[in-house]
Amino acid sequence: MVSATEPISVHVVPDDAHHPTRPPTSKHYSRAYAALVRRYMGEPVDISFRELVGPLPASEYTHGLYPYPARLLRHIPRFLLSTEAVVADVDAVFDPFVGSGTVLLEAQLRGFTSIGVEQNPVAALVSRVKVAQGAYEHAADVLEGALVAAKRSRRPVDPSPLLRRWYSEGAMSALGRLAAVAAERDEQDRDLVQLCLALTARRMATTDPRIPVPVKSARNATASSTDVWSQWSQESASIVAKLGTLPPRRPVADVRAGDARDLTLWPSAEQASRTLLLTSPPYGAAQKYVRSTSLEAAWLGHAPKGRTVHLEHNSIGREHLSPQDLELSVSSVSSSRLRQALTSIAERDARRGAIYVAYFADMQRIFMNARSVGMRRIALVSGDNHVAGGALRTSQHLADIVQSLGYRRVVSLRDPIRGRSLLTSRKNGAPAPAEYIEIFEMTPHD
Ligand SMILES: C[S@@+](CC[C@H](N)C(=O)[O-])C[C@H]1O[C@@H](n2cnc3c(N)ncnc32)[C@H](O)[C@@H]1O
Repeated sequence: MVSATEPISVHVVPDDAHHPTRPPTSKHYSRAYAALVRRYMGEPVDISFRELVGPLPASEYTHGLYPYPARLLRHIPRFLLSTEAVVADVDAVFDPFVGSGTVLLEAQLRGFTSIGVEQNPVAALVSRVKVAQGAYEHAADVLEGALVAAKRSRRPVDPSPLLRRWYSEGAMSALGRLAAVAAERDEQDRDLVQLCLALTARRMATTDPRIPVPVKSARNATASSTDVWSQWSQESASIVAKLGTLPPRRPVADVRAGDARDLTLWPSAEQASRTLLLTSPPYGAAQKYVRSTSLEAAWLGHAPKGRTVHLEHNSIGREHLSPQDLELSVSSVSSSRLRQALTSIAERDARRGAIYVAYFADMQRIFMNARSVGMRRIALVSGDNHVAGGALRTSQHLADIVQSLGYRRVVSLRDPIRGRSLLTSRKNGAPAPAEYIEIFEMTPHD
């Protein structure tokens, strides 16, 4: 294990140290990283990012704005983005799988501009608010104004059929009015009001709060409109307090809602050569990202017929396969080791086999996008899975794909991080024992 040998406070550059030309790095982290690279001989080097970086509160700034699954340990982007060798020649950070925005916010706090893509509209909304700067000086007034307007509203609400099952009559009526008010706000205010609506709706559902995906419980079964108004006020106060902790004058972070396979959402070729790709991709069979936010998605108008399956169809790691997915064969992936692993899964369970072929074909597309725009450095955080009764070395297979495209692995670090339990507590998916943090660089052409 590598551990910090000197007091962290001496070395960590302040969060709001935005530099006009080049963000500052930490000598301490740069030295620790150089030692890890030297130690790397092809096998992962064991390390604890919590020890290396020291305490970093999980909910500091807007990090804890929303309980979205599979949040990345913020120590990882904090370390990498403070390390000279990782950010050398880098002006910007790109995360094709933004989730609730950990990488983008850390990039912003370190002084980098950033771009991200996120396919789940609820996560994209959370991330937009998380990194929006200077836009919410009047957040308290905007949220209070929405509450007053909703209380006055007499407009009948026609809720999505998905929602009737999950709310009391009183809660339905109040949330419906808040949703109608939110939809009428202009863009910037709409994000803020919709975020407060999503949080309030999450708390007022008759679901078990211990389980991230909706599971029926007795909670809130008799909730009234008044309960919703008071929950709104609580959520609103908490959002305003969190936004108020963000340092001013941060660089721009651009969250693009959409599918990361779509190359038009990526940085241009001109930007890409000075952009670091830093991401934690979805797991295979990770449909719970969508399910965990399905009620909020319905309140925000993303479940038109009471269904969110269309969102799953655009997800990488989807379980609902389309006819095109079923046409994919193992030959669509470039790595022979991966082809063997996929064939073996398909022999044990044909459907799982098809899900994982689609997953790796999609991930290959992501890395091909990176190469085609000319990104020189990739920092990848991934874990392994158990699939159809066997271990699947997802991190190794992703690394094989990246290397097959001409990137060289500079270092592979292994951290026994817990925290992806939502995505792995399936009967066919044992918890990931560790996460792998790997840096790849494009091999220079002669
Ligand atoms: C592991 S999470 C990222 C977590 C993030 N690092 C954080 O700390 O919040 C992966 C994310 O990829 C998103 N995703 C899945 N398929 C996608 C696609 N085709 N395009 C963009 N995002 C996608 C999921 O919705 C999920 O939010």
